[in-house]
Amino acid sequence: EGPQTRSATGAETGAAPQTQAQQGKFLTTAQGARLYDTDHSLKAGRRGPVLLQDHHLREKITHFDHERIPERVVHARGAAAHGVFESYGNAGSVTHANFLAEGRRTPVFVRFSTVLGSRGSADTVRDTRGFAVKFYSDEGTFDLVGNNIPVFFIQDAIKFPDVIHAGKPQPDREIPQAQSAHDTFWDFVSLHTEAQHHTIWNMSDRAIPRSYRMMEGFGIHTFRMTNADGQTSLVKFHWKPVLGVHSLTWEEAQLIAGADPDFHRRDLADAIEAGAYPEWELGLQVVPDNPEQTFEGIDLLDPTKLIPEELAEVQLVGRLTLNRNPINYFAETEQVAFHPGHLPPGIDVTDDPLLQGRLFSYLDTQLTRLGGPNFAQLPINRPHAPVNDNLRDGFGQQADHTGVAPYKPNSLDGGCPFTAGADDRAFVEAVATVEEGRKTREQPASFDDHFSQARLFWTSLSPTEQDHVVAAYSFELGKCWHEEIKQRQVQCLANIDPVLCEQVATALGLDVPAPTETPDTSVAPSPALSQLGEQWPS
Ligand code: HEM
Repeated sequence: EGPQTRSATGAETGAAPQTQAQQGKFLTTAQGARLYDTDHSLKAGRRGPVLLQDHHLREKITHFDHERIPERVVHARGAAAHGVFESYGNAGSVTHANFLAEGRRTPVFVRFSTVLGSRGSADTVRDTRGFAVKFYSDEGTFDLVGNNIPVFFIQDAIKFPDVIHAGKPQPDREIPQAQSAHDTFWDFVSLHTEAQHHTIWNMSDRAIPRSYRMMEGFGIHTFRMTNADGQTSLVKFHWKPVLGVHSLTWEEAQLIAGADPDFHRRDLADAIEAGAYPEWELGLQVVPDNPEQTFEGIDLLDPTKLIPEELAEVQLVGRLTLNRNPINYFAETEQVAFHPGHLPPGIDVTDDPLLQGRLFSYLDTQLTRLGGPNFAQLPINRPHAPVNDNLRDGFGQQADHTGVAPYKPNSLDGGCPFTAGADDRAFVEAVATVEEGRKTREQPASFDDHFSQARLFWTSLSPTEQDHVVAAYSFELGKCWHEEIKQRQVQCLANIDPVLCEQVATALGLDVPAPTETPDTSVAPSPALSQLGEQWPS
């Protein structure tokens, strides 16, 4: 037998990864001792009692008792696949990241998910979908941890526990709200009105995709890229499905949730098994870096705002193909650990306060979820770039660090080549300035515009899509017990669009309120945009 390792990819060859657990033809203990009976406990006489000395019995049951790990605190329900990313080689003017250089083929692992449901929940619920891509780049792993909706509910990570608690099952009855979001969800989004833009996308057909293969993906935040000459740009990531964007109707989604709760994961696995490999093109919206970090009046640090494609074209820079199903759900799909801070040289974060909080949260949660600090050594998480760290010991340590001096530079381990700054392939933070000032929890005034892009989305929809949005608000708000919450949300709709407000209020038997905010026309839809109908955002 070969070395006891499992390649995380093998995507290009389709080669079966080696498993550590199933070598040879005999059933053994975890220590490799061959067994002659796995069905009967060792007893004192045929009728017992069972003897404590039965190692196989104790090992088998003990291990079973510890099979479960905590599910992800969000995005618990997911499905994943291996594949390859092929670069078109046209992004060199924007970034020196190697995986985007000409002719590069980079193995990837992609996990799709719902956000709020538990691991055993149904696939076709109305919810945002996660779209997380791990590029095993030869410059270190790059995780693009995105969603299928281009904006987020909140502008500051400090509210993340609150928005999730508002959407998760009620604390008293543990009735999930993903399908029929009730009072807490609507209470939150009508009080924290920055959530209105994401919410209208959730009430649209985008939140009930036909298939993972037919979803767009978005990095959402603005990232900062650096090219080989040291020039920086501000960038948003997009995934464009080659099959186009398609959704279920609400009636279909509900019926499928009953008839086949695994609809999306089955669809993904079946398509790959049949050789109908799902494909996406990676696109970049690139805008000039500037001290304000704005573009056409849009605050690029506000994750509740997108850049309309008419203002900055999405330039396609590569193709993602999913071509191999995982062989073990737990080992791969469950244990994979994404992190928005896993970045290659040439791509860096910006000061978006939501992104900044995410940089803390993912590693923190994975320490619990994956049982300690060494989960990067799990086969699915292992980088394909050489790893040379001084992260010693800890639960689950599998690496044999050698030498006597676990620090660098040192003069004991045969001389140490590490000199700060000497490596031109190192990850170097992008050049950026920070505003000086007093410490504050205040937000910039530009974060106060909560409705203009929700309006932009509404006016971009076709009449049929608008009907679906009205029906979704009416159905979901109809589940609320508290009249004042419904009325407050209808007030938010008045600030988005009078027709939308009137139709939903009428369906709910509520008064039709007047807007409380004067529409901010700085980023309101131009007539040309609203006429684009279904084509926007493509
Ligand atoms: C998990 C996306 C905001 C905390 C995930 C996953 C995705 C995702 C796709 C699932 C990854 C997987 O498949 O394993 C996003 C996007 C966000 C966002 C696009 C906003 C733009 C946040 C914020 C926080 C957060 C603000 C916390 C402050 C988490 C946590 C997990 C997670 C704790 C579970 C990670 C794990 O257990 O491995 N997120 N998220 N997310 N997210 Fe986010």
